[in-house]
Amino acid sequence: MLKINVKVGDFRQEETDAIALGIYEGEDSLTPLAESVDQALGGAISNLMGLGDFEGKLKQVVTLYTNGKVSSPRISLVGCGKAEDFNQENIRQVSAKHARSLRNLGVKKIIVPIPDDISDLSVQAIVEGVKLGLYTFDQHKTEGRNEIKELEELTFLTANESRTSVIKQGIELGNTITDGVILARDLTNQPANYLTPTILAETAQSVAKEKNLRCEIFDSVKLQEEKFGAMLGVSQGSLEEPRFVILEYGFEEANEKDTLVLVGKGITFDSGGLSLKSGSGMETMKDDMAGAATVLGAMQAIGELKPDLHVVGLIAASENMPSGTAQRPGDIVTSYGGKTIEILNTDAEGRLVLADALGYAKNFKPEAVIDFATLTGAVVTSLGRSTAGIMGTDQKLVDRIISAAEKTHERVWQLPLWDDYEEALKSEVADVKNTGDGTAGAIAGGTFLKKFAEGYSWTHIDIGGTAFDIKGSSYISKGGSGYGVRLLIQLVRDWH
Ligand code: BES
Ligand code: ZN
Ligand code: ZN
Repeated sequence: MLKINVKVGDFRQEETDAIALGIYEGEDSLTPLAESVDQALGGAISNLMGLGDFEGKLKQVVTLYTNGKVSSPRISLVGCGKAEDFNQENIRQVSAKHARSLRNLGVKKIIVPIPDDISDLSVQAIVEGVKLGLYTFDQHKTEGRNEIKELEELTFLTANESRTSVIKQGIELGNTITDGVILARDLTNQPANYLTPTILAETAQSVAKEKNLRCEIFDSVKLQEEKFGAMLGVSQGSLEEPRFVILEYGFEEANEKDTLVLVGKGITFDSGGLSLKSGSGMETMKDDMAGAATVLGAMQAIGELKPDLHVVGLIAASENMPSGTAQRPGDIVTSYGGKTIEILNTDAEGRLVLADALGYAKNFKPEAVIDFATLTGAVVTSLGRSTAGIMGTDQKLVDRIISAAEKTHERVWQLPLWDDYEEALKSEVADVKNTGDGTAGAIAGGTFLKKFAEGYSWTHIDIGGTAFDIKGSSYISKGGSGYGVRLLIQLVRDWH
């Protein structure tokens, strides 16, 4: 576990494995801090840049050996690109790249000297970049464990005692946020034989206990009593019991506060059911609970940050399996709230569990409901792996989410929910059917959900493409991305 702290001192005297320093691109671009490091090294940085061996281009890394000129054996430079283009997202990317290359060198302790005018936001972004960039999911690997390299300590070094409290604030917020993202990544990466609906619910319960959240869990008996017919239909083919989790922050003063309900699709494995997916189509379907992971990661952070709000997290957890007891194409189920659904494709199961959850959300008389779901493959086709599809019934709420997403650089792009799309979901025998006409798949999913998100402001975020990264990039690791956790925390912090 990486420890992050702050210290007052002079970089020349610090005994550590490496001193990390950001350098802007361009001539005469050395900041006063970089200037003083350059001087201490007898002009090594300006020499290097003069030769053109290091230009300060974004994410370029070069490590200098100090030969006793300062107490640390290494000074490692990272390019920050052009000063005028530098922003929070660049800080995260640069920090991730730098931390990874230092870790791979075998460095355990680093010191980051920081300028006097650094903001808590920038410190937060460094913490996010470093911790998210270093993330790996290796708990199931038994071989080569001794060779795993780990960065153990990062110390922000300031020359100015009065800056320490601002730096500490940045560290704390960065830690809270990354803990939430890492929880979401771990859950998403956990295979379905380790993470069943029951275990997902138990994890939620332990988060609730730790962060003082109210927690209620519905098992299949309770789900029957409460008439969660759509969710029960999805789970009936599986040997694993479904679970519906209700987490509440700010429960005691719920009536005096704005209520925000977060809803997550929690399909711990999506085989497609009887409308079975292809072999390769299910390779990543352990990630189909990523929406639930986002909600849980955000709720954990909210429990720590204690915003002036009432926040409810709802998780609809189930497996989607084929078997003799599985639901069939053509079946009709009755959702929470009474609307009937004709199931034409059992692989469109996310919208079914969400139909019940969105119906239940109304009981909280919410100001806003936001759902996160790996709902469609179509959203991957339309927007790729970096951008989620956002749709909603209240443009003000959608705009709020877009602006939070811009700050955290979790890309969203709005798709329309015009009534033109409703025709395709009409059923001959029930109130609605669970598939459209094969066109505009992501919008069809959103249009279906809209029918159940009645009586409140609502936004749906389709994270089919963003929840899971096959390649990984800068601070997004391979596998579960934890997409949406930072966005939700930002939204909650900016609410008032
Ligand atoms: N979990 C999938 C969506 C998905 C597929 C996300 C691939 C990411 C990558 C969802 O339950 C599903 O199977 N949706 C179907 C809906 C269709 C049958 C209307 C889809 O997208 O093909
Ligand atoms: Zn499916
Ligand atoms: Zn699914």
